[in-house]
Amino acid sequence: MIQKVKGTRDILPPESRLWAAVEAEAYRIFGGFGYDEIRLPVMEPTELFVRTVGEGTDIVSKEMYSFSDRKGRSLTLRPEGTAGVARAFIENGLGQRPQPVRLMYLGPMFRYEKMQRGRYRQFAQIGIELLGSAAPQADVEVLLTLHDFLAALGFADHRIVLNNLGDPDDRPRFIAGLKSELEPSRDRLCGDCQRRWDANPLRILDCKVPTCKELVAGTTPIAEVVSDAARNHVAAVEAGLESVGVPVERAPRLVRGLDYYLRTVFEVVSPELGEDTVICGGGRYDRLIADLGGAEVPGIGFAIGEDRLIDVLPEGFRSRVLDRPVVAVLPVGDAAAGPVLALARDLVAVGVSVRTEVSGRSLKAGLKWASKIDAAVAVIVGESELEAGTGVVRDLRTGEQATVPLVEISRRVLELVSTGPGI
Ligand code: HAM
Repeated sequence: MIQKVKGTRDILPPESRLWAAVEAEAYRIFGGFGYDEIRLPVMEPTELFVRTVGEGTDIVSKEMYSFSDRKGRSLTLRPEGTAGVARAFIENGLGQRPQPVRLMYLGPMFRYEKMQRGRYRQFAQIGIELLGSAAPQADVEVLLTLHDFLAALGFADHRIVLNNLGDPDDRPRFIAGLKSELEPSRDRLCGDCQRRWDANPLRILDCKVPTCKELVAGTTPIAEVVSDAARNHVAAVEAGLESVGVPVERAPRLVRGLDYYLRTVFEVVSPELGEDTVICGGGRYDRLIADLGGAEVPGIGFAIGEDRLIDVLPEGFRSRVLDRPVVAVLPVGDAAAGPVLALARDLVAVGVSVRTEVSGRSLKAGLKWASKIDAAVAVIVGESELEAGTGVVRDLRTGEQATVPLVEISRRVLELVSTGPGI
């Protein structure tokens, strides 16, 4: 028996319907705000991620699926989407289009991580990127878009937390200060943080080990040492968000696991998954495109972890998607086989979800099958009905039934499934 690769998942029906519905909502809301989809390769040159996400990050140093192709080129299955968007922006001259350029994407990402709830090796992201505006108003719009998307799915108890990472020039000063504050207790930091000390000291702030958390809690927040320009930027973002009624909280020690961020960074946490399993992360990256050899094009965006989002999807949205009534269409006798397919077509055309009996079951077995698949309504057409130009519509929830002219069946069934039980 061949089994799926560890850390990958099969998304089966009806769960897969939730994925499609969430994605439809993303196209609706993000599309409405002007984010058009960009479809990018799943594999990119390894160097792209080394130069953007950063060599000292967990992602690049230990989580990438990298391999050599037959010509010996090092390729990597994308661990995230922003680097690919930046590459495509430069390569396709998107800087020539009216700015800013708003892009959305969705699809699989790959990271070699330890498996646990909400952590997979192949997972899906839904992301947006706004490229070509450095103004705080762009950050406000991106966060508003995120908030409205979550609200459309019915999320109410999630929190958006935000921090100010300052500008790259602020970073060495902050890191020097952080290290001098932590120096006396350096040997109490965990093994990972010992390594981060030189490779990626900012990530010490993000360590989940209780002792490290405690040590870090006493240090000066990064927002207190950033430049005035960065301070004013994030203050303007917060004021803008307040004016449009998008609640965000300051998380003074929030840092992100990718190197390209500056100024505004944010995450979404849900009480159900806990603080350490975030459903969305994002921020501003004004140097990314220039660092890749493009023009000075600022950017900001986020990516939602779709697996995690669906794991904590509000009940109302779930049931709207999953509890859609099903109509069983049952032919009785060979002569009815063709006509019921025509009927099924009519029903689908008016928006009803049908399951036609195509296995030659008797009426009794067909009704048993209909109840097994939880059909709300059955439409039964036998030879005598065919002769009379009618069919039987039975509400399986109440047992009531009526004989209805064939031409009226789709309207009657639609009524029945839209208004609930009762003929
Ligand atoms: P990230 O925080 O690395 O950011 O990932 C974004 C989201 O992807 C996370 O918040 C999480 O929900 C989900 N995620 C990450 N790793 C896994 C995993 N192993 N299993 C399941 N879900 C996971 C980025 O990727 C940035 N590119 C976001 C961004 C876009 N920043 C600016 N624009």
